[in-house]
Amino acid sequence: MSEFVRAAVAHGQQGAVIVESVRLKPLGPRDVLVQMKAAGICHSDMSFINGERSGASYPLVLGHEGAGVVLECGREVSSLKPGDHVIPLGIPECGVCPACVSGKTNLCDEYFRDSGSRPFLLGDQALRGFCDLGTFADAIVVREMQVAPIDRAAPLDVICCLGCAGATGLGAALFTAKVEAGASVVVFGLGGIGMNAVQGARLAGAVKIIGVDTNPLRETAARAAGVTHFVDPTQVENLLDHLRELTDGGADYSFECVGNQKVLSDAVECTRKGWGVTVMVGVLPGSQQIQLRPRAILEGRRLMGSYLGNIKTRTQLPRLVDRFMEGDLSFESLISHRIALQDINDGFAKLANGSALRTVIHFDHAAG
Ligand code: APR
Ligand code: ZN
Repeated sequence: MSEFVRAAVAHGQQGAVIVESVRLKPLGPRDVLVQMKAAGICHSDMSFINGERSGASYPLVLGHEGAGVVLECGREVSSLKPGDHVIPLGIPECGVCPACVSGKTNLCDEYFRDSGSRPFLLGDQALRGFCDLGTFADAIVVREMQVAPIDRAAPLDVICCLGCAGATGLGAALFTAKVEAGASVVVFGLGGIGMNAVQGARLAGAVKIIGVDTNPLRETAARAAGVTHFVDPTQVENLLDHLRELTDGGADYSFECVGNQKVLSDAVECTRKGWGVTVMVGVLPGSQQIQLRPRAILEGRRLMGSYLGNIKTRTQLPRLVDRFMEGDLSFESLISHRIALQDINDGFAKLANGSALRTVIHFDHAAG
């Protein structure tokens, strides 16, 4: 690996990133150096350049989904070694904090602490990576507690999608909502994340899976992922009436995978009174608040949230890779485009105009 690596840097809400030459800081005792092989472009990355998310400090290396190979380990790293195939993850799993030992959540206490990590050097300015990762770079320095070792036989350019979209969507259905066989499910937003919520519902044995998306181009891939009905909300007179009719009075589960106040309210309202469960997955832009009709909740519906699908990143995520290798999961209909790092702004443009589902960046390390 050359001393300089390329990294996609956001300098502000300017609509694009710049691929810059950066250096990586030396490894701390608990850090690992990961050579990235593939990385997926997520809507959350885009929200740092398209005005949707405020409060970020720039410059910032984007990317929080990917897969790679460990090149080097700090002297106190005990669970990883050079050559290991890994998925770096946005949520750490330290294994010893009250959250990690509770068995109730994947939100390790370390996730809420500022790691202080600024491993990329642009000139003499030290930059953070988004989620303390920054996977849109040839190589990254990341804490051991944020790296999951996976089956070496798994294709990194496919299972990279598990790092965000796969874990978030599959986990929302399997770990957060715990959808059961025979259930009816509505998934709002059939992007990278929603498609995996569909896939998770299918794995759980849901019999009715209704996908709702304003983009009619999503229908084919959604059917491949498992939807039994596709609804374009702009084409029906009353969306809620239509969904209640399709689900005989209300869905057992719904998933908001758009990041929109009104859609979240619809997601709650379309579930069955008495037991309907809605999982909030999408991130509402800016300072938008949740707005719900109080009776929707009083009537016994529940609203839950989840980050990365409530999946413990180091101990549970590798099992999803195993399920992929066993043939239970597919990301074929999910990955719509493959590009090189220098074309990343093209990838963002395709995500913004709705022509891409997941675009996977491939890293060419041939030059050293
Ligand atoms: N109703 C239904 N679907 C909608 C609506 C709407 N009102 N508005 C947009 N959509 C659809 C888009 O057409 C698109 O297919 O939602 C989908 C969003 O997909 P992506 O842009 O690919 O986003 P994704 O990466 O899946 O992330 C979804 O989760 O992590 C968060 O920040 C992320 O809030 C975002 C959400
Ligand atoms: Zn993401």
